[in-house]
Amino acid sequence: MKGQTASQTLKQLDFTNFTTAHHPRSYANAMVRHHHPFTPADRLDAALKAGWNVFQFPSERLTGGDLLSDSGTTTLTAEQFSALMLGDEAYGSNWGYFKLMETMENVFGISFDEWEFYLFHQGRAAEHALFGQIKGENLIVPCNSFFDTTRANAEACGIDARDLVGHVGGGEGGDFKGNMDLEKLEKLLEENKGRVPLVFSTITNNTAGGQPVSLDNLRATQKLCDRYDIPFFLDACRFAENAWFIEEREKGYKDKPIIDIVHEEFAACEGFTISFKKDGLANMGGALCIRKDSRLVRRYPDLLEKLRDHQILVEGHPTYGGLSGRDIMTIVIGLQTAVRDQYLRGRIGQVAAFGAYMQELGIPVVAPFGGHAVYIDTDKFFAGTKFRRGHFGGISLTALLLLKGVRLCELGAFAFGTFNPQTQKETFPQHNLVRAAVPRNKYEMEDLFYVADCVKGLYVRRDALPRAVAVYGKDKTLRHFKARFALEDF
Ligand code: F0G
Repeated sequence: MKGQTASQTLKQLDFTNFTTAHHPRSYANAMVRHHHPFTPADRLDAALKAGWNVFQFPSERLTGGDLLSDSGTTTLTAEQFSALMLGDEAYGSNWGYFKLMETMENVFGISFDEWEFYLFHQGRAAEHALFGQIKGENLIVPCNSFFDTTRANAEACGIDARDLVGHVGGGEGGDFKGNMDLEKLEKLLEENKGRVPLVFSTITNNTAGGQPVSLDNLRATQKLCDRYDIPFFLDACRFAENAWFIEEREKGYKDKPIIDIVHEEFAACEGFTISFKKDGLANMGGALCIRKDSRLVRRYPDLLEKLRDHQILVEGHPTYGGLSGRDIMTIVIGLQTAVRDQYLRGRIGQVAAFGAYMQELGIPVVAPFGGHAVYIDTDKFFAGTKFRRGHFGGISLTALLLLKGVRLCELGAFAFGTFNPQTQKETFPQHNLVRAAVPRNKYEMEDLFYVADCVKGLYVRRDALPRAVAVYGKDKTLRHFKARFALEDF
């Protein structure tokens, strides 16, 4: 398509003219839509400038629905906005810091007499701090599934990050498809004694379709770690959504309050990283918490002190941890809101209704649905067409949706795959998905129906979709954030 004008390319693609049954009307985007009636041609211009990379596409043109991420994209509640006004911008020991510690103790069921607390500006900064202290040759850290930046942080510290989850795309049923595969974990621990400084579980399991992890699985992982004398940590970003699934699906938890289930989740671990941009319902924030008697501290006796130094070097005083007092106040209220029944019922219910509508339209999605997103199974989406994984159909799909003002995210063959310049070969990951992540407290059902209708519009044309060719960046680390693509006919 190089050298073509925008309108020539648009005509050739002709994917912008399909009609949809529903129309977007989110409050969040209403103003933008009203004042800037972006045309498909505007969006095409922007998409070409962005090299069809969804991360580079200007968000103001996404009047159909921006489902790129559920992270930091929440609409703050009235309570959060009120609390924000109480933000104390003192350099040391601001009022909100103590409110946050109190709230974390209440919500997570931990005591900061027994735990050390490190505040960071977001989740990955906490992960970077942690992995930076345990870096070393020949170390393996297993996880049910690492999130992309979590994996990258571990790997940047020379750690071999291993995913040990079952396959979520295939088969029906499975209430806790995010679970750690305990057989694989036992085998790994048995064969690699001394090489595993800690074991992680991500709740819910974002990389594996946003699927929940059962308490039974968390406890069994903890028990296995005990047997091998290894600490067990959580990546706890979506702890509240995970607790909701436990209440709904796990035997014996039907009548348990969410807060009690949350306490049991955290009781299973001796440390956790968390991004408050998810179930903290905040736009910014993250933390690392470690039991003072954790086996990780036994293995690395200077750990707690070195983490504190690192935090001061890169984030600021430990009592603000790279955040403004206003940010901290939104987290305080966000954490309290996230464990409320009414909130979670609406949240998980909305994602489920969105997923059910996708299914109704015949779009192959991972079921049961995840907590924060609906995941399209890209291999099934393109089954029976010319597309093979190396044609990156997920990238084509997300690229073309931009023309309808809709943004999803490919988390599959391209995002998690790698290109080897020596062999000129691509290696593909276990899961090949496209994620429609639903920001919290932001969209109406109608908006999500519109997104689904747009996906359907491309699904019925799947035979005719162009393939995506990376013209820049396929050999780079974290390539999905940086790459540029051309869309080419077969
Ligand atoms: N862990 C998980 C499971 C995540 O989903 C994320 C971020 C992080 C850690 C890192 O947190 O963004 O605050 O640095 N996930 C976002 C997403 C970016 O779109 O899923 P962060």
